[in-house]
Amino acid sequence: YGTQRINENGKLEIGGVEAEGLAETYGTPLFVYDVKDIRNRAEEFHDAFRAQSVNYQIAYASKAFSCIAMMELARDLDLSLDVVSDGELHTALEAGFPAERIHFHGNNKTPEELEMAVKEKIGCIVVDNFTELTWLMALTESEKTEMEVLIRITPGVEAHTHEYISTGQEDSKFGFDLNSGQADEAIRRLLDHPFLKLQGVHSHIGSQIFRAEGFEEAVKEIYRMIRKWKESMNYYPQVLNVGGGFGIRYAESDKPLPLHVYIDRMVTAAKEEAEAMNEPVPEIWIEPGRALVGEAGTTLYSIGARKDIPDVRTYVSVDGGMTDNIRPALYQAEYTALLANRAAEETEETVSIAGKCCESGDMLIWDLDLPAVNQGDILAVFATGAYGYSMANNYNRILRPAVVFVEDGQHEIVIERETLTDLTRRERKYSKAAAVQK
Ligand code: LLP
Repeated sequence: YGTQRINENGKLEIGGVEAEGLAETYGTPLFVYDVKDIRNRAEEFHDAFRAQSVNYQIAYASKAFSCIAMMELARDLDLSLDVVSDGELHTALEAGFPAERIHFHGNNKTPEELEMAVKEKIGCIVVDNFTELTWLMALTESEKTEMEVLIRITPGVEAHTHEYISTGQEDSKFGFDLNSGQADEAIRRLLDHPFLKLQGVHSHIGSQIFRAEGFEEAVKEIYRMIRKWKESMNYYPQVLNVGGGFGIRYAESDKPLPLHVYIDRMVTAAKEEAEAMNEPVPEIWIEPGRALVGEAGTTLYSIGARKDIPDVRTYVSVDGGMTDNIRPALYQAEYTALLANRAAEETEETVSIAGKCCESGDMLIWDLDLPAVNQGDILAVFATGAYGYSMANNYNRILRPAVVFVEDGQHEIVIERETLTDLTRRERKYSKAAAVQK
């Protein structure tokens, strides 16, 4: 993955830094991000669009991994930003991310969040439903401010991915469905509104997609509607946002396409459709999350307890688990790993990697081939950069890990490890509990 290699000492190196040393310096579990890999991915997307000579925006879906340093990096890489809450928006603004490049998503933005977005003059709000539309109308009227919006629709395209992360089908909590006429109704209301400026259409078909055809089908499906909108209300969008979901390599069996293949497919489809209508090619926007940061992230754990069940299985436990990577438990996601401190050694045994939570489902990897594992070895689990830290939690009151950025042989902490004091900082004693001398 990225700039990772096994060096002459037989150790795993990331961004020119030995992983074992990072584990010693910062402790484990530790998220390590290979910054160069993120830069390269962003550049790959930019190149793909430039080669197609279309206007475009690449909005980093910050839900994949969000913190001030990441937002700064996204800003420097000429990315736009997809946020879905006041928390993500706040983090972006704290990082000095330009408000006009921020897009606000979500199926239940609160009135307070909408107000924040309008006051901060962010780039656009992706309107998801009629409730939000009504609130936004009232808000922009009372503030007398214009706001650019996209309308999110569900194109009815199956993404062929896990059902929890598939979003483009008609029966979904997101967006306006196309067949009931509700999308038409929303567009009509937007076109009539003095303060809301409809820039275009958004659709997101799902995540971890390996079929470029899905994006092509979504573009075609959207154009089927655009032709209707052009006829019935003379509406043609300036922007076509086709969402994120570009697949990455978690395990050997994952075979992601080069990023430009997805872009070529969707842009070609949009060009053909636009030409057939004799209309300009819209700006194409995408929203990659995991494709930008997924493979750049590695989690380092220390090996702890071991349990051998003769003729059945060997469980080897690490000092993290579903608290820092819930994906195996939630989606049966698969990962691969090696011992960072003994990366060149031959494999000798097959073990299953368990997390430390009180939950049988807290397993990170089943049946992993490793050298004979010792306590204190450092396990590096790859491709944990997306939806790992961002979905981290305190189940069992386990502390959230630290996050380190590495690049060109240098390392820098960007999120400190949570402390026991942090855990109880916002808690208050109950006034009706008996007083205890301490
Ligand atoms: N745009 C929209 C509107 C989305 O809902 C998402 C993901 C993305 C973009 C970015 O998708 P990506 O390029 O990262 O696949 N927690 C799950 C994924 C949930 C994705 C939710 N939306 C996971 O760990 O796989």
